[in-house]
Amino acid sequence: MAKFSVTSFTMWLSCLVLYAQTMHAMKQWPGGRSTRFYDFKVQTMRITKLCNAKDIVTINGMFPGPVVYAQEGDRVIVRVTNQTPYNATIHWHGVRQRLTCWSDGPSYITQCPIQAGQTFTYEFTLVQQKGTLLWHAHVSWLRGTVYGAIVVYPKTGVPYPFTYPYEEHIIILGEYWLKDLLQLEQAVLASGGGPPPADAYTINGHPGPNYNCSSNDVYKIDVVLGKTYLLRLINAGLNMENFFAIANHKLTIVEADAEYTKPFTTDRVMLGPGQTVNVLVTADQPIQRYSMAMGPYMSARNVPFQNISSIAYFQYLGAMPNSLALPAPLPSFNDNLAVKTVMDGLKSLNPVDVPKEIDTNLFITIGLNVQKCRSKTPNQNCQGANGGVMAASMNNISFIKPNLSLLEAYYKKINGYYSEDFPGVPLKFYDFVNGAPNNIPNDTESMNGTRTKVLEFGTRVQLILQDTGTVSTENHPIHLHGYSFYVVGYGTGNYNPQTATFNLFDPPYMNTIGVPVGGWAAIRFVADNPGVWFMHCHLEIHLSWGLSVVFIVKNGHGELETLPHPPADLPRC
Ligand code: C2O
Repeated sequence: MAKFSVTSFTMWLSCLVLYAQTMHAMKQWPGGRSTRFYDFKVQTMRITKLCNAKDIVTINGMFPGPVVYAQEGDRVIVRVTNQTPYNATIHWHGVRQRLTCWSDGPSYITQCPIQAGQTFTYEFTLVQQKGTLLWHAHVSWLRGTVYGAIVVYPKTGVPYPFTYPYEEHIIILGEYWLKDLLQLEQAVLASGGGPPPADAYTINGHPGPNYNCSSNDVYKIDVVLGKTYLLRLINAGLNMENFFAIANHKLTIVEADAEYTKPFTTDRVMLGPGQTVNVLVTADQPIQRYSMAMGPYMSARNVPFQNISSIAYFQYLGAMPNSLALPAPLPSFNDNLAVKTVMDGLKSLNPVDVPKEIDTNLFITIGLNVQKCRSKTPNQNCQGANGGVMAASMNNISFIKPNLSLLEAYYKKINGYYSEDFPGVPLKFYDFVNGAPNNIPNDTESMNGTRTKVLEFGTRVQLILQDTGTVSTENHPIHLHGYSFYVVGYGTGNYNPQTATFNLFDPPYMNTIGVPVGGWAAIRFVADNPGVWFMHCHLEIHLSWGLSVVFIVKNGHGELETLPHPPADLPRC
């Protein structure tokens, strides 16, 4: 179990007193047995990796950032003070934020960014959730270095539904760039083209021995022969999906996106950015040093990517300290079957309560676009496919981020920042996987807008996510804020209700779904958490290009069905 130091205990105690004074008489979600207080200082830090020194943005000078530990039902309070010159926000990825949409964190969706020198306090209760999640910055490309784990233990006295591990370790997969990420983002968007690949993959911030100057920049776990370990795997990368494997060792998945699953044993897993998977690994091999490896999964055509895998060590006690690590066999970068095999193995631990009747059927296409070049300097600004400008869309509408938080605009009824006309089905049906949305086969333009989809409280939603091949088909990790959803079905090709088969018995309950390349996924959820909720591709470049939409879920009429007032310290734009 996690250890909570005396200092942090007194820290949260004194802060509780402080909060008792400032908190309005607001209805609270019941349950929180304890309150966990964390102090996050957004800071720049000088770091040397791959033989290059640079400044990165961190929390409390840590990379990866501090772990947020809590138990199911706890209240979590994180005071974020921005000590950098850049805008900052933190998103608690996968935390369902019951009645606390104001603390969700995506910039210009639920809050304006925390400006230089400012402070904002996030506050939420971990209602009926436990397991591994992550937090990350949610403004520009800051999350490339501003990320960390959230570990939610079961309530006291409630055991794991699997063999109690001898030890637990957090393994965060990341991507590292030598260039400044905020400058890189601006340069990429100005170019109209795609982003360069990362300079390295990292495991807990370490590239490992395959990279230049990194033979000592390696993460390592010491293991004891015969013991079983719980690895909390998190993908915090920006633009890549990744495979993970350990040489000669099986991984048994017991949890995904902070929900228990039926144990499923596999040689490797694939995680898209934002996804988390808990695996059990038993140290049952000869005493040796083994590689834990992270490599690319790239399902799109013609996209450059980093092909050097990041290695960490899984090292038995008693192994020769400098022995060569046994290599871990990763699937090839385009092994779609390896991805499907793991997905097929994901089932909720117990039968679940999937909505059977549906009130709202949504069908949303997801994919890339190329806009016509409208620049006077095409060589500089139109480096996308066929001399155009890259974009991405849902139902062929590229989301334009507003310059005020949508939640604020909605809550305070400020007109002019968004519309409520996001279409529930594509404006045109065509061969999504093999065609293009407009008449001319090479017209791949999308429309622009800040369009939202409004849902009444309690709506039972089914949503089909359909990949398009307009530019290239690709596996997109689609993340929904404020909810988990049941993944009731998925397949390749165009979704066909006549032939699609659904699992309404024990589907996994997730917050991010990798929609199969050139295929579709069907998800279901009940819209019972009022607020303004972002849904987007978790590949950061696709988010920048507009692969997102916003759901507005209205208040209900019962107890605990109304979004409270905004906190007093909510940042201003
Ligand atoms: Cu983990 Cu909107 O993101």
